[in-house]
Amino acid sequence: KDYVSIGLLGLGTVGSGVVQLVENHQDELVHQLGCGVKVKSILVRNTEKERDIQIGQTFLTSNPDDVLQDPEIDLVVEVMGGIEEAREHITKAIQAKKHVVTANKDLIALHGPELQKAAVENGVDLFYEASVGGGIPILRGLTEGLVSDRLKKVMGIVNGTTNYILTKMEEEGQSYENALKKAQELGFAEADPTADVEGLDAARKMAILARLAFSTSVALDDVEVEGISKLSLEDLHYGQKLGYSMKLIGFAQVDDHKVEVSVQPTFLSKSHPLSSVKNEYNAIYVQGEAVGETMFYGPGAGSLPTATAVMADVVAVIKNLLLGVNGKSAVAPRYESVLKSPKE
Ligand code: NAP
Ligand code: HSE
Repeated sequence: KDYVSIGLLGLGTVGSGVVQLVENHQDELVHQLGCGVKVKSILVRNTEKERDIQIGQTFLTSNPDDVLQDPEIDLVVEVMGGIEEAREHITKAIQAKKHVVTANKDLIALHGPELQKAAVENGVDLFYEASVGGGIPILRGLTEGLVSDRLKKVMGIVNGTTNYILTKMEEEGQSYENALKKAQELGFAEADPTADVEGLDAARKMAILARLAFSTSVALDDVEVEGISKLSLEDLHYGQKLGYSMKLIGFAQVDDHKVEVSVQPTFLSKSHPLSSVKNEYNAIYVQGEAVGETMFYGPGAGSLPTATAVMADVVAVIKNLLLGVNGKSAVAPRYESVLKSPKE
C-alpha cells in the first residue's frame, strides 16, 4: 500500500493539529514508515461549521459509521472527548478490528483496562500517549524507557490549564476568571473546565501514570483530589512574598506494597525545579530504584504538541501493522493486590 487510511473522531483543538501534522510532516512519516498516512474521513458534530483548518479531499461527516464501518480505514483516532459516546465508538471500532489511538484521559482513567482487554482479544492496538502530558512522551518513557526499573514515585504538574492560570495570577496579577478564559481561548482547557480547575483532569492523569509506573490497577476513586478554584490572588501574592510559588501537584508513590495517589495545590520554594515550570507546560518527576531521578518536561496541552503525541501512537500502530504484531503490546497489571490507601 502507498498509504494507510485513518479516520478521526473530532476536529477540534487536537484533531486540527493531527490533520496539520499529517499534511505538513508527510515526508517524515513516509521516511519512518515507507508509506504515507492519509486522513480519509472525520466525524464532527456540525459539518456546516466554519473551520480555520483546510481539509482538502477529507470527508467530513456527522455519522459515526462513516468512520467506524469504513473497510478502508485501519485506524481510528478518537479526539472528540466525553465518555459514553467515545466509549461506544471505540468499542465499535475495536470490534470492527480497527486500531485505536485516543487522547481521552477521562475515558482511559475510567474504562482503560476493559478497553485494553477488548483490544487484545480483537488483535488490535489501543494507544493513548496524548492522554497525559500533552507533547511529552511520558507514557512511552514509563513503559519503554524505564521498563526494566522498579519505579517508586511519580510526581509533578500534569494539568496545563491550572498551571497557566496560576502563572498568570502570580506573575501578572490577572484574575482567576480572566486567566481561565484565556486558557480556554488557547484551547488548553477541557470542554467543561471544571475538570481542570477542580483537579479531576490531573487526577485522571495521575491514575493512568500510577497504573503504568507501578504495574497495578488504580481506580479514579483511589485518587485523593483538591483543585485550585478556592485560591485567591491574595493567597498567591502572600506565597510569592515569602519565596513560594503555587502549583497543582500530582503525587503517586508505592511504598511497602501500598499505592498512594493524590492531587493538591502546593506551595513550592522558588528553588524547587517544578517552580520554574510556567504557563501550560507540564513536568513529571519519576524516581526509580535503578535510574535514580528523571524529569520529563514540555508543553502539556495545545493543538500541535498534543498532536505529536497522537501521531507517535499512529506511527507505532502502523509499524506494528507492518510487522504483523498488533494487539500484543498491552501491559497487564503485575500486582493486582497492591493496597491503595490514600484516604485512610
Ligand atoms: P474540542 O476542541 O472541543 O474538539 C472536539 C471535537 O469533537 C469537535 O470537532 C467536535 O465537533 C467533535 N465532537 C465532540 N463531541 C462529538 C459528538 N458527540 N459527535 C461528533 N463529534 C463530536 O476538544 P479538544 O480540546 O480537541 O480535545 C479532544 C480530546 O483530547 C479530549 O478528550 C481532551 O481531553 C483531549 N486532550 C486535549 C488536549 C488539549 O490541549 N486540548 C490535550 C490532551 C488531550 P464540532 O467541531 O462539530 O463541534
Ligand atoms: N485540559 C488539559 C490540560 C489538556 O489543561 O492539561 C491536556 O490534557
